[in-house]
Amino acid sequence: GYYNEVYRNQFHFSPEANWMNDPNGMVYYDGEYHLFYQYYPYGKTWGPMHWGHAVSTDLVHWKHPPIALSPDENGWIFSGSAVIDWNNTAGFGKEAMVAIFTHADGPKQVQSIAYSLDKGRTWKKYEGNPVMPNPPINDWRDPKVFWHEETKQWVMALAARNKVMFYTSHDLKNWKHASDFGPDGGIQGNGIPGSYSYALSKQKGSSFIYEADITLVEKNGHKGAGGLVFRSDQEVRNAYLTTVDAEKNTVSLSKMADGKLHEMAASSAKLEAGQTYHLKVVTDYENLKVFLDDKLVIHETDSSFINGQFGLVARNSTAVFRNVKVENSSNGEPKEDDPISPSGTIKDFSAVVGEWVPSTYGIYGGIWECPSLIQLPVDGDPNKKKWVLLVSINDGAVAGGSGMQYFVGQFDGKTFKSDNTPQTVLWADYGADFYAGVEWSNLEGENGEKFWLGWMSNWSYANNTPTSPWRSSMSLPRKLELTETADGLRLKQTPVSLKKIRDHKEKIKHEDVVLSKDSSFLPNLTGDTFEIIAEFDVSKATATEFGVKVRKGKHGDTDEQTVIGYDLAEQKLFVDRINSGNFNFGSNVKGKHEAPLRSSHKTVKMHIFLDRSAVEVFGGDGESVITDQIFPLSSSDGLELYSKGGEATLKSLEIYPLKSIWG
Ligand code: FRU
Repeated sequence: GYYNEVYRNQFHFSPEANWMNDPNGMVYYDGEYHLFYQYYPYGKTWGPMHWGHAVSTDLVHWKHPPIALSPDENGWIFSGSAVIDWNNTAGFGKEAMVAIFTHADGPKQVQSIAYSLDKGRTWKKYEGNPVMPNPPINDWRDPKVFWHEETKQWVMALAARNKVMFYTSHDLKNWKHASDFGPDGGIQGNGIPGSYSYALSKQKGSSFIYEADITLVEKNGHKGAGGLVFRSDQEVRNAYLTTVDAEKNTVSLSKMADGKLHEMAASSAKLEAGQTYHLKVVTDYENLKVFLDDKLVIHETDSSFINGQFGLVARNSTAVFRNVKVENSSNGEPKEDDPISPSGTIKDFSAVVGEWVPSTYGIYGGIWECPSLIQLPVDGDPNKKKWVLLVSINDGAVAGGSGMQYFVGQFDGKTFKSDNTPQTVLWADYGADFYAGVEWSNLEGENGEKFWLGWMSNWSYANNTPTSPWRSSMSLPRKLELTETADGLRLKQTPVSLKKIRDHKEKIKHEDVVLSKDSSFLPNLTGDTFEIIAEFDVSKATATEFGVKVRKGKHGDTDEQTVIGYDLAEQKLFVDRINSGNFNFGSNVKGKHEAPLRSSHKTVKMHIFLDRSAVEVFGGDGESVITDQIFPLSSSDGLELYSKGGEATLKSLEIYPLKSIWG
């Protein structure tokens, strides 16, 4: 039947057939919510991109008007945004809906515009396209435009490899570069599991002071190790090496002799991924001294290699280097600081092995896409607003593969300044399947909140998910605002109300039920589309973990299930989809997705939406969200509340089967 295939989500948007990725051109106008989307109408995998079109009047049900934009001689139609040109700044006509998008000819990408005078139903591309014809760099795309009232101009955020470039305009046609946000002057090595990545500088020396701030970043399931190589030959076959290693919790000094590594000394230290350490080496012809955070931790004497090059090394995971300095003291007179990677580029290095790129704010990996700069109220106060820059990155996201990070800061009409430290990494969603999220333009809640949704997939496996004849769905629309937490300002997301599709006849309600260890609750309920609102009282909990198991069943010898739980010791909400079905999500993406969630006021809230092939979990008041696709057998339709290791009290529970929005 219509929208009734295996895995066909019943209350999430998906195209009738074929491939979909990013939401595009999101705009509200005259009672209609427009959702355009990256679309390939002739196949189930990514191909020549069009803008598909969906329209809703309630953010719950969707209609399918014809395709809005198709490829032309300027290229495929990549992601972009839409605005209502209230003041007719572009001269296209009264209240024109204007789309600003990327024309892609492979990696060569330019920006173009199109307009509609009939509520987005038919579109005319501007004859002066492209309006931004000169890419400063490959992969320059995804224009997101908004009207900045204070400076009375249009502002565009554009993704440019690993930074966001801002432009301004008075007419949507002529754009002026205003500023960039991104690289922070560091350099980043992406270590290959089981091996080292090196970047050797041109400088050589025997007696010197050599130092760097090293941030260890978890990647490939490794906690991170990075360090300095010195007195090295061109091939790093003969060299000294000192590393900080969060996996071994050591600072070590080693010698590479004819390509073989020998550890000379190691000092234990508590090291953590995400932290920055100051590593310093002081040598003369004989003495090799290593300092961690200015404390001498190793002192050896050795003179196997006298003169050689300096370099940086990353192992297994990512290491970021900032403030790399070398002070040569060979003639007994210290020279001035000589930064060897002043601008975070690798052009100053003579030999580079493995992947080295400029480091950026936030997570240090992947390519930046689909940026969006918005202003959001803090805790419902329309007079207290902060700017938030949302950026999609592929790959290196929190669950692996692609995902979305954000920065909270300030914007003056030209420049965005993050209030966060470069080490702070904030995730909009901790699941594996929320990407390219952007908000509706021309739409605000009563306190200035915004509304958005994201593409519910991950570039690591998006082209392979087992659905037919369509591929991919969008997340539920969510209200977006900021909230002040003990850890700082965080995004808060509230799903759109699905009250109108709740099946009230089947509603289940419970209060104050003690879930005891290894017992289960509600094991007789079955279904594949539910809204579940559960609040747990953890003030007397003895359980280590509790939550809801959905889509339970048997698949051969394995128990199929998706576990949505809370880990009390770790204060983490999680979705474990390791045994959620037969689909192989690949090794690049984790199986269990965790989000920090404090059990504030001694309760833990979970607001869960279960659809045929997706779960969306809003933790607490929406400060932690996990969105994941799952592909269980149709026969795996069991539901169960559980606690593990002890008791937990279910303070209140409401379960509503949800009806389909299609048909
Ligand atoms: C993000 C993205 C965009 C691009 C589009 C192409 O998922 O890669 O950067 O415009 O998809 O379909």
